[in-house]
Amino acid sequence: MHKVILDTDPGIDDAMAIAYAIAHPDIKLLGLTTVFGNVSVEKATRNAQYILDVMGVSDVAVAKGAGVPVVQSPLPHSEFVHGDDGIGNCYPQSDVALNANAQHAQLHALNAADYIIEQARAHPGEISLLAVGPLTNIALALEKEPDLPNLVKQLIVMGGAVDEPGNVTPLAEANFFNDPHAADRLLARDWPMMVVGLDVTHKVMITDTHLAKLRDEAGVTGDFLWRTSRFYIDFYTSKGAAKDAVEPQCAMHDAAAVAYLVEPDAFSVARGAARVIEDGVAAGQLALDRKGYQYTTEHWSERASNNGACMSVDAERVLDSFLTNIIAHRLV
Ligand code: BDR
Ligand code: CA
Repeated sequence: MHKVILDTDPGIDDAMAIAYAIAHPDIKLLGLTTVFGNVSVEKATRNAQYILDVMGVSDVAVAKGAGVPVVQSPLPHSEFVHGDDGIGNCYPQSDVALNANAQHAQLHALNAADYIIEQARAHPGEISLLAVGPLTNIALALEKEPDLPNLVKQLIVMGGAVDEPGNVTPLAEANFFNDPHAADRLLARDWPMMVVGLDVTHKVMITDTHLAKLRDEAGVTGDFLWRTSRFYIDFYTSKGAAKDAVEPQCAMHDAAAVAYLVEPDAFSVARGAARVIEDGVAAGQLALDRKGYQYTTEHWSERASNNGACMSVDAERVLDSFLTNIIAHRLV
């Protein structure tokens, strides 16, 4: 059983990741820690609570995290991808609807970084940290507890791109672009860290046929995933990576990071020292030394040399695991 803290900026594909983590029988989701990114941290936190409510889950902590990056000034949020509310404009509009929800997941007293540290100390070597937003909370936790790499089991990150073009610039993926300094600080440390970036997440496309199956067979969770994905699918098919696709579809970026945890054999991995470019025209770009040259030049000497990045994926296997587990877990 994987004990998981999911660091997230919900986010429509974040909602898919949360649903998958809750549904998977090998995952014990301890908490959601929230971060700015797709939307403000306030909206991300509210959405995290709401998604748990929708799924009828009340034993998962929600700890609010960072609202701005560790160094750079905050960039605009991605409401044009995820909707004004971050979940495809599915957040209930009326107070009545909100207050009527008796299950409302409570906010943890600790902030995200402190919650991560507390849990890592309480369960040494057992926690898998899954980060599917900008890496600010994890970088803040690492700053406060430099021994974090030895306290957690692993860190799996959705972010970056090695060969695949970026999705916010030709070079940069959104999560790394939103806080490149945080990403680079994490890659500098020697710990079991895996990057699940656009090289694989752009291959794991969920179609309207899949989403309709969830709507029809996965109870309230499936219905929510169908409704929340309408906005995201529109973006993908009008402007994003699926504009030439025959069937409406979107990338399940964040759910692919959950898949790496439970189906690691579905991925092939390259390893080497890695950096994230912090500013300038290439800001947010992930650079991976796949040759193992161990460059002695400034910026590369003395870097951790065992960073992993996923390079290819059995997308069918990932989709099958995602759909099967969410349907099996359905709430009526
Ligand atoms: C990542 O950026 C966000 O928009 C998504 O939620 C995902 O985490 C993809 O680049
Ligand atoms: Ca995300």
